[in-house]
Amino acid sequence: MVLTMKTALVTGGNRGIGLGVCRKLHGLGYRVLLAARKLEDAECAASEVGGKTEPVHIDVTDEESIDACAHALEAAGVRLSALVNNAGASFDGFDRSVAARTLATNFFGPLRVTRRMVPLIERHACVVMVSSGMGHLSHVSRGLAQRLLDPKLALGDLVALMESFPREVGQNTHEKTGWPSNAYSTSKVGLNALTRVLAREIGDDGPLINAVDPGWVRTRMGGSGAPRSIEQGADSVVWAATLDPSGPRGGFFRDGTAIAW
Ligand SMILES: NC(=O)c1ccc[n+]([C@@H]2O[C@H](COP(=O)([O-])OP(=O)(O)OC[C@H]3O[C@@H](n4cnc5c(N)ncnc54)[C@H](OP(=O)(O)O)[C@@H]3O)[C@@H](O)[C@H]2O)c1
Repeated sequence: MVLTMKTALVTGGNRGIGLGVCRKLHGLGYRVLLAARKLEDAECAASEVGGKTEPVHIDVTDEESIDACAHALEAAGVRLSALVNNAGASFDGFDRSVAARTLATNFFGPLRVTRRMVPLIERHACVVMVSSGMGHLSHVSRGLAQRLLDPKLALGDLVALMESFPREVGQNTHEKTGWPSNAYSTSKVGLNALTRVLAREIGDDGPLINAVDPGWVRTRMGGSGAPRSIEQGADSVVWAATLDPSGPRGGFFRDGTAIAW
């Protein structure tokens, strides 16, 4: 019997929850492609995780870096069993520039990476969008929530809606549309909508794409006062990265339990 090793790609794998996810997947026997926006950070973290952990360079805001990584993986004949879109950022302040930078990382980043990696993804691979409780629809107006939940919402419409957010922040009209004055929250609301739209487009016979809330975790982003450890946050993510083909699709989960959008 030939046992083939499963391969997982984790963005933002050099620290925090992403590094925790890499460690756990490595422990489960995965070959881990640990991606970081600085190759030297990926190399350092990959050597810490050990075994078959390989450093790769991906800045999720930089299409060229994603493309170069995908080309290299294609050339090496890599097939992905799991793609964990973990890289994320939260910036201080709230203005047009902060809104644009936050969405570039937390919404357009996972969209770019997922789209480019699709040809490398196995039929029943797991794609995880690392989201947040801050992405709950209670953060937007009821009208906007309905729009985002519309089962006919097309990817192009969602992209246009997210592109309009920084513009509206610049004009101070975003609250009229129903958005909060919080770029991080908006980015994760958008990421959850992206999860639903992609899951619907993919259908029931392709990769299992789900959003996960790791909970409030003690990382650089979460701060030292957060109640959950990196291991707990990573467990929540790894659950969705290791589903079998009969597992759920297009849902939002914390610790393996479905939570409300
Ligand atoms: N911690 C929490 O309480 C919490 C709660 C809910 C959701 N989350 C989500 O969990 C994920 C991981 O967060 P964390 O708490 O582990 O945060 P973290 O410790 O601040 O780590 C963030 C990771 O994302 C990477 N990153 C940021 N911008 C990037 C870019 N443009 N390209 C590639 N990588 C980039 C960082 O790389 P650098 O080292 O180069 O900066 C780092 O590896 C995020 O999506 C976050 O929104 C966290």
